[in-house]
Amino acid sequence: MKHLLKLLDLSSEEIINLLDLADQLKYDLKHGIPHPKLKGKTLGMIFQKSSTRTRVSFEVGMYQLGGQALFLSTNDLQLGRGESIEDTARVLSRYLDGIMIRTFEQSLVETLAMYSSIPVINGLTDFSHPCQVLADLMTIREFKGKLEGLKLCFIGDGNNMMNSLIVGGLKTGMQVSVACPERYMPDPLVLEFAAEYGDKFSLYHSPEQAAADADVLVTDVWASMGQENEIEERKKAFAGYQINSEIMKIAHPNAIVLHCLPAHKGEEITHEVFEEHAAEIFEEAENRLHVQKAVMVTLMA
Ligand code: CP
Ligand code: NVA
Repeated sequence: MKHLLKLLDLSSEEIINLLDLADQLKYDLKHGIPHPKLKGKTLGMIFQKSSTRTRVSFEVGMYQLGGQALFLSTNDLQLGRGESIEDTARVLSRYLDGIMIRTFEQSLVETLAMYSSIPVINGLTDFSHPCQVLADLMTIREFKGKLEGLKLCFIGDGNNMMNSLIVGGLKTGMQVSVACPERYMPDPLVLEFAAEYGDKFSLYHSPEQAAADADVLVTDVWASMGQENEIEERKKAFAGYQINSEIMKIAHPNAIVLHCLPAHKGEEITHEVFEEHAAEIFEEAENRLHVQKAVMVTLMA
């Protein structure tokens, strides 16, 4: 593994190895066992979109590993004034030991990686959110003791989260079912990948059908970053694509609920279901820290 650009690039074994290392790093942290595996190393973090979890967990994670992180907003970088991503990659590779980037187009992250001589980590694009889904898999394993054979259901937009959960779920042996409106389907590349898994993957337009007997229910906002101007039409299209008490009755009685956050309660999830499942949702947020430390150690140590 040279970079973390999207889960499609990782083997099942690489994913499981990251989750195992994340569990170990979580154990070490909770037991006060020092783990300065990236002493003296620096991670650059380029943000073209807002962030609470990604920014703070990468920065704190780097600190706990004995290294440091630099927050680089595109407003401040020459990238924001038109310097090319290719040149930015070649310059930053001379100073840093790794780059995390949150941006719009997946192709920008792929180009950055192509021109960098150091590891590149995708901190979210419009296409994928691999760090989040690794944290989700870690959380599912913690609550359910396994991944293989579980049914994962995502209800909502065919966005970066749905794309990555389909890939991460199938690669780790889960059955994956998703429900989205016809106009908001997952990426064709992901559907092509999922087609190889036969009846392990199902796509519905009905949330009720998708949720039947699910062990894990996941949702995300109806309008992602950069789509704020579409919110009114999206509210109409996504009405009913909600995790609520009715959906919970259709899912397995012991189903857990995940949300990458930030949540728009009352839209994709009700206040009631969110609070009933806050234990899972905030463990999931915490696990961003542990799993990203595992990613950084794997790529940068
Ligand atoms: N879930 C997630 O990536 O959160 P942030 O946008 O706050 O980083
Ligand atoms: N789909 C959301 C995820 C935020 C973490 C977005 O891209 O805005």
